[in-house]
Amino acid sequence: MMTPHIEAASDAFAKTVLMPGDPLRAKFIAEHYLDNVKQVNQVRNMLAYTGTYQGVPVSVMGSGMGMPSIGIYSWELFTVYEVEHIIRIGSCGAYSPELNLYDVLLADRVFSETTFGTVQNGDPNPFRSPSPELNQRLIQSAHALSLPLKTGTVHSCDVFYRENSQDFQRILHTHQALAVEMEAFALFHNAQVLGKHAACLLTVSDSLVTAEAASPEARQTAFTRMMDIALHSIAN
Ligand code: HPA
Repeated sequence: MMTPHIEAASDAFAKTVLMPGDPLRAKFIAEHYLDNVKQVNQVRNMLAYTGTYQGVPVSVMGSGMGMPSIGIYSWELFTVYEVEHIIRIGSCGAYSPELNLYDVLLADRVFSETTFGTVQNGDPNPFRSPSPELNQRLIQSAHALSLPLKTGTVHSCDVFYRENSQDFQRILHTHQALAVEMEAFALFHNAQVLGKHAACLLTVSDSLVTAEAASPEARQTAFTRMMDIALHSIAN
Protein backbone atom coordinates (compact mmCIF):
# COMPACT_ATOMS: atom_id res chain seq x y z
CA MET A 1 0.00 0.00 0.00
CA MET A 2 1.63 3.22 -1.18
CA THR A 3 -0.83 5.72 0.33
CA PRO A 4 -3.87 5.30 2.58
CA HIS A 5 -6.07 5.51 -0.52
CA ILE A 6 -4.09 4.11 -3.47
CA GLU A 7 -2.52 0.65 -3.57
CA ALA A 8 -0.71 1.03 -6.92
CA ALA A 9 3.06 0.57 -7.14
CA SER A 10 5.05 3.82 -7.26
CA ASP A 11 5.58 3.59 -11.05
CA ALA A 12 2.03 2.53 -11.90
CA PHE A 13 0.71 5.89 -13.13
CA ALA A 14 1.50 7.75 -16.34
CA LYS A 15 2.60 11.41 -16.15
CA THR A 16 -0.88 12.44 -17.33
CA VAL A 17 -4.05 11.37 -15.52
CA LEU A 18 -7.60 11.95 -16.70
CA MET A 19 -9.99 12.28 -13.75
CA PRO A 20 -13.72 11.79 -14.15
CA GLY A 21 -15.75 11.99 -10.92
CA ASP A 22 -17.26 8.53 -11.30
CA PRO A 23 -14.89 5.55 -11.00
CA LEU A 24 -17.10 3.57 -13.41
CA ARG A 25 -16.51 6.34 -15.94
CA ALA A 26 -12.79 5.72 -15.45
CA LYS A 27 -13.40 2.03 -16.20
CA PHE A 28 -15.44 2.90 -19.29
CA ILE A 29 -12.69 5.21 -20.60
CA ALA A 30 -9.99 2.61 -19.97
CA GLU A 31 -12.00 -0.10 -21.75
CA HIS A 32 -13.15 2.00 -24.73
CA TYR A 33 -10.27 4.39 -25.41
CA LEU A 34 -7.01 2.96 -24.10
CA ASP A 35 -4.76 0.09 -25.22
CA ASN A 36 -2.57 -2.15 -23.03
CA VAL A 37 -4.75 -1.35 -20.02
CA LYS A 38 -3.90 -2.42 -16.48
CA GLN A 39 -6.07 -1.72 -13.44
CA VAL A 40 -3.86 -0.09 -10.80
CA ASN A 41 -6.25 0.81 -7.97
CA GLN A 42 -9.34 -0.66 -6.36
CA VAL A 43 -9.14 0.78 -2.82
CA ARG A 44 -12.62 2.16 -1.90
CA ASN A 45 -13.63 1.20 -5.45
CA MET A 46 -11.85 4.34 -6.68
CA LEU A 47 -10.84 2.54 -9.85
CA ALA A 48 -7.68 3.59 -11.66
CA TYR A 49 -6.14 2.30 -14.89
CA THR A 50 -2.99 2.90 -16.88
CA GLY A 51 -2.72 2.23 -20.60
CA THR A 52 -1.72 3.96 -23.81
CA TYR A 53 -3.52 6.23 -26.26
CA GLN A 54 -1.94 6.32 -29.72
CA GLY A 55 1.16 4.93 -28.06
CA VAL A 56 1.34 7.60 -25.35
CA PRO A 57 1.06 6.40 -21.72
CA VAL A 58 -2.00 7.76 -19.93
CA SER A 59 -3.83 6.93 -16.71
CA VAL A 60 -7.44 7.43 -15.76
CA MET A 61 -8.79 7.47 -12.21
CA GLY A 62 -12.06 8.45 -10.52
CA SER A 63 -11.87 11.49 -8.26
CA GLY A 64 -15.09 10.98 -6.30
CA MET A 65 -17.44 13.89 -5.68
CA GLY A 66 -16.44 17.12 -4.01
CA MET A 67 -13.26 18.94 -3.06
CA PRO A 68 -12.27 16.77 -0.08
CA SER A 69 -12.25 13.71 -2.35
CA ILE A 70 -10.40 15.15 -5.36
CA GLY A 71 -8.15 16.97 -2.89
CA ILE A 72 -6.93 13.65 -1.51
CA TYR A 73 -6.48 11.77 -4.78
CA SER A 74 -4.86 14.60 -6.72
CA TRP A 75 -2.43 15.30 -3.85
CA GLU A 76 -1.36 11.67 -3.68
CA LEU A 77 -1.02 11.40 -7.47
CA PHE A 78 1.12 14.54 -7.63
CA THR A 79 3.31 13.79 -4.61
CA VAL A 80 3.67 10.00 -4.37
CA TYR A 81 3.19 8.98 -8.01
CA GLU A 82 5.05 11.88 -9.63
CA VAL A 83 2.08 12.69 -11.87
CA GLU A 84 2.63 15.98 -13.72
CA HIS A 85 -0.71 16.68 -15.40
CA ILE A 86 -4.26 16.04 -14.24
CA ILE A 87 -7.17 16.83 -16.53
CA ARG A 88 -10.52 16.68 -14.78
CA ILE A 89 -13.29 15.59 -17.15
CA GLY A 90 -16.64 16.19 -15.53
CA SER A 91 -20.11 17.58 -15.80
CA CYS A 92 -21.53 20.92 -14.71
CA GLY A 93 -24.79 22.77 -14.24
CA ALA A 94 -25.26 25.93 -16.33
CA TYR A 95 -25.70 29.28 -14.56
CA SER A 96 -25.58 31.29 -17.77
CA PRO A 97 -28.45 31.32 -20.30
CA GLU A 98 -25.70 31.38 -22.94
CA LEU A 99 -24.63 27.83 -22.10
CA ASN A 100 -26.67 25.03 -23.66
CA LEU A 101 -27.03 21.45 -22.53
CA TYR A 102 -24.14 19.33 -23.87
CA ASP A 103 -21.84 22.28 -24.52
CA VAL A 104 -18.23 21.52 -23.62
CA LEU A 105 -16.70 24.14 -21.32
CA LEU A 106 -13.04 24.63 -20.42
CA ALA A 107 -12.51 26.34 -17.05
CA ASP A 108 -10.14 29.31 -17.44
CA ARG A 109 -10.72 30.37 -13.82
CA VAL A 110 -12.59 28.96 -10.84
CA PHE A 111 -14.35 30.76 -8.04
CA SER A 112 -15.19 29.10 -4.72
CA GLU A 113 -16.31 30.08 -1.24
CA THR A 114 -14.78 26.81 0.04
CA THR A 115 -12.37 26.79 3.00
CA PHE A 116 -10.10 24.36 1.08
CA GLY A 117 -7.34 26.87 0.30
CA THR A 118 -7.41 28.58 3.69
CA VAL A 119 -7.19 25.27 5.51
CA GLN A 120 -4.62 23.72 3.16
CA ASN A 121 -2.04 26.52 3.20
CA GLY A 122 -3.67 29.73 4.48
CA ASP A 123 -4.40 31.12 0.99
CA PRO A 124 -7.79 32.86 1.22
CA ASN A 125 -7.98 33.91 -2.46
CA PRO A 126 -11.37 32.69 -3.71
CA PHE A 127 -10.03 32.19 -7.26
CA ARG A 128 -7.70 29.57 -8.74
CA SER A 129 -6.44 29.15 -12.29
CA PRO A 130 -5.69 26.15 -14.47
CA SER A 131 -2.37 25.54 -16.21
CA PRO A 132 -2.16 27.95 -19.17
CA GLU A 133 -0.13 25.35 -21.12
CA LEU A 134 -2.69 22.58 -20.61
CA ASN A 135 -5.54 24.93 -21.50
CA GLN A 136 -3.73 26.02 -24.62
CA ARG A 137 -3.27 22.39 -25.68
CA LEU A 138 -6.93 21.63 -25.05
CA ILE A 139 -8.05 24.67 -27.07
CA GLN A 140 -5.74 23.68 -29.93
CA SER A 141 -7.01 20.13 -29.76
CA ALA A 142 -10.67 21.23 -29.99
CA HIS A 143 -9.71 23.41 -32.93
CA ALA A 144 -7.88 20.58 -34.70
CA LEU A 145 -10.91 18.31 -34.26
CA SER A 146 -13.36 21.09 -35.29
CA LEU A 147 -15.22 20.60 -32.00
CA PRO A 148 -16.80 23.63 -30.35
CA LEU A 149 -15.29 24.55 -26.98
CA LYS A 150 -16.37 27.40 -24.71
CA THR A 151 -14.16 28.89 -22.00
CA GLY A 152 -15.04 30.78 -18.86
CA THR A 153 -15.19 31.02 -15.08
CA VAL A 154 -16.60 28.02 -13.22
CA HIS A 155 -18.04 27.95 -9.67
CA SER A 156 -16.65 25.10 -7.55
CA CYS A 157 -19.34 24.60 -4.93
CA ASP A 158 -19.28 22.54 -1.73
CA VAL A 159 -23.06 22.20 -1.67
CA PHE A 160 -25.16 20.40 -4.28
CA TYR A 161 -28.56 20.92 -2.61
CA ARG A 162 -28.88 24.62 -1.80
CA GLU A 163 -31.87 25.95 0.13
CA ASN A 164 -32.14 28.94 -2.20
CA SER A 165 -32.04 27.58 -5.74
CA GLN A 166 -31.86 31.12 -7.19
CA ASP A 167 -28.60 31.81 -5.35
CA PHE A 168 -26.72 31.03 -8.58
CA GLN A 169 -27.83 34.38 -10.08
CA ARG A 170 -25.68 36.23 -7.55
CA ILE A 171 -22.59 34.15 -8.34
CA LEU A 172 -23.18 34.48 -12.08
CA HIS A 173 -23.38 38.25 -11.82
CA THR A 174 -20.73 38.88 -9.17
CA HIS A 175 -18.05 36.51 -10.49
CA GLN A 176 -19.18 35.80 -14.07
CA ALA A 177 -19.29 32.08 -13.23
CA LEU A 178 -20.98 30.40 -16.19
CA ALA A 179 -21.51 27.01 -14.56
CA VAL A 180 -21.18 25.01 -11.34
CA GLU A 181 -19.31 21.82 -10.46
CA MET A 182 -17.71 20.58 -7.24
CA GLU A 183 -13.99 19.75 -7.69
CA ALA A 184 -11.92 22.08 -9.86
CA PHE A 185 -10.88 24.57 -7.17
CA ALA A 186 -9.20 21.92 -4.99
CA LEU A 187 -7.51 20.34 -8.02
CA PHE A 188 -6.13 23.69 -9.21
CA HIS A 189 -5.08 24.63 -5.68
CA ASN A 190 -3.09 21.41 -5.23
CA ALA A 191 -1.47 21.78 -8.65
CA GLN A 192 -0.45 25.36 -7.81
CA VAL A 193 0.97 24.46 -4.39
CA LEU A 194 2.94 21.51 -5.82
CA GLY A 195 4.14 23.16 -9.05
CA LYS A 196 2.11 20.75 -11.21
CA HIS A 197 -0.40 21.21 -14.04
CA ALA A 198 -4.18 20.87 -13.96
CA ALA A 199 -7.11 21.64 -16.24
CA CYS A 200 -10.84 21.05 -16.15
CA LEU A 201 -13.11 20.16 -19.08
CA LEU A 202 -16.84 19.95 -18.40
CA THR A 203 -19.96 19.03 -20.31
CA VAL A 204 -23.17 20.82 -19.40
CA SER A 205 -25.43 18.11 -17.95
CA ASP A 206 -28.16 20.35 -16.55
CA SER A 207 -29.23 23.97 -16.38
CA LEU A 208 -30.11 25.93 -13.27
CA VAL A 209 -31.60 28.58 -15.58
CA THR A 210 -34.11 26.37 -17.39
CA ALA A 211 -34.14 23.32 -15.05
CA GLU A 212 -33.50 21.06 -18.08
CA ALA A 213 -31.39 17.94 -17.58
CA ALA A 214 -29.54 15.88 -20.16
CA SER A 215 -30.87 12.50 -21.25
CA PRO A 216 -28.43 9.62 -20.71
CA GLU A 217 -27.94 9.14 -24.51
CA ALA A 218 -27.19 12.81 -25.16
CA ARG A 219 -24.88 12.89 -22.15
CA GLN A 220 -22.89 10.10 -23.72
CA THR A 221 -22.49 11.99 -27.02
CA ALA A 222 -21.33 15.14 -25.25
CA PHE A 223 -19.03 13.06 -23.10
CA THR A 224 -17.47 11.52 -26.22
CA ARG A 225 -16.67 14.99 -27.61
CA MET A 226 -15.02 16.00 -24.34
CA MET A 227 -12.99 12.77 -24.27
CA ASP A 228 -11.83 13.28 -27.85
CA ILE A 229 -10.59 16.78 -26.98
CA ALA A 230 -8.78 15.55 -23.85
CA LEU A 231 -7.16 12.52 -25.50
CA HIS A 232 -6.12 14.39 -28.64
CA SER A 233 -4.40 16.98 -26.42
CA ILE A 234 -2.33 14.23 -24.78
CA ALA A 235 -1.31 12.45 -27.97
CA ASN A 236 -0.51 15.48 -30.14
N1 HPA B 1 -24.31 21.38 -9.20
C1 HPA B 1 -23.10 20.96 -8.86
N2 HPA B 1 -22.39 20.15 -9.60
C2 HPA B 1 -22.93 19.73 -10.76
C3 HPA B 1 -24.17 20.14 -11.18
C4 HPA B 1 -24.91 21.02 -10.35
O1 HPA B 1 -26.04 21.42 -10.66
N3 HPA B 1 -24.43 19.55 -12.37
C5 HPA B 1 -23.34 18.80 -12.66
N4 HPA B 1 -22.43 18.92 -11.70
